[in-house]
Amino acid sequence: MRTLDSIPALRSFVKDARKSEKTVAFVPTMGALHDGHIELVRQGLAKADICIPYIFLNPKQFAPTEDLAAYPRTLESDLEKLRAVNASAVYLPRAEDIYPEGFVTKITLGGVALPLEGEHRPVMFEGVATVVAKMLLQCLPDIALFGEKDWQQLQVIKQMVRDLDIPVEIIGVPTVRDENGLALSSRNAYLSAGEYKIAIQLNKILGALASDVKSGLSIPDAEEKARIALRDAGFQAIDYISVRDATTLQPSQSGANLRILAAVRLGKARLIDNIPL
Ligand code: PAJ
Repeated sequence: MRTLDSIPALRSFVKDARKSEKTVAFVPTMGALHDGHIELVRQGLAKADICIPYIFLNPKQFAPTEDLAAYPRTLESDLEKLRAVNASAVYLPRAEDIYPEGFVTKITLGGVALPLEGEHRPVMFEGVATVVAKMLLQCLPDIALFGEKDWQQLQVIKQMVRDLDIPVEIIGVPTVRDENGLALSSRNAYLSAGEYKIAIQLNKILGALASDVKSGLSIPDAEEKARIALRDAGFQAIDYISVRDATTLQPSQSGANLRILAAVRLGKARLIDNIPL
């Protein structure tokens, strides 16, 4: 597995792949890799000839009050996991390559970026869109893979790529969960053993909400029942639990193409999850 530590190194690796007519998959990550990330790399290798994950802990998507300083950094074991899955190369840019002195441009978003996460973490999606746009333009892969775990992020990126005519196909990969249904997340490292037992209720409560709506309970009543269940389970704050149009993330007008999304707080962790309805 080649280590690409600069923009020219990335570009020349991709250029060589193109010369031998290979297709290229790209997998953005912030490191602290778990099986959810690795599944993106596996899918990338299944869909393209080579797959290049990148690791870049993007400061611009963290608000000053958020957990950038505490975010887990596990580079050696990350590289081990990428080698084990036969990633073709890993791109490890330095912060100064991505945000050189004098960098001022950012991508401003609307629409799908505004509700839910957009209300609770207002700087995040602009930071995500800016770094993902830069990375896609640096690499110019055929496809880039993102997890459905971050459903709204996936929709934001699809919208941005469409709006800016970035010639890359965006592919969503289903959420990888542990044996108790908890969506894998680098931030699960913040959970104590007691908090973990609460955390695994989140996906079960989303599932119950889906069943309630399918069996005829109104969406507002089913959401309220889920909020009570989350409080009873021991979650400390509920940022949202809501049935939305899966593409626009607005409350649904039609009743078709629905997704249930939630964000809750538990100790030092903020957990997000979503399922189709
Ligand atoms: P990060 O949280 O490291 O996630 C990297 C990618 O892995 C994202 O596409 C995310 O949706 C996916 N992922 C995380 N947990 C997953 C799981 N349990 N199952 C499937 N996929 C999962 O998301 C980011 O980084 C950043 O915002 C980034 C896009 C890299 C931009 O900085």
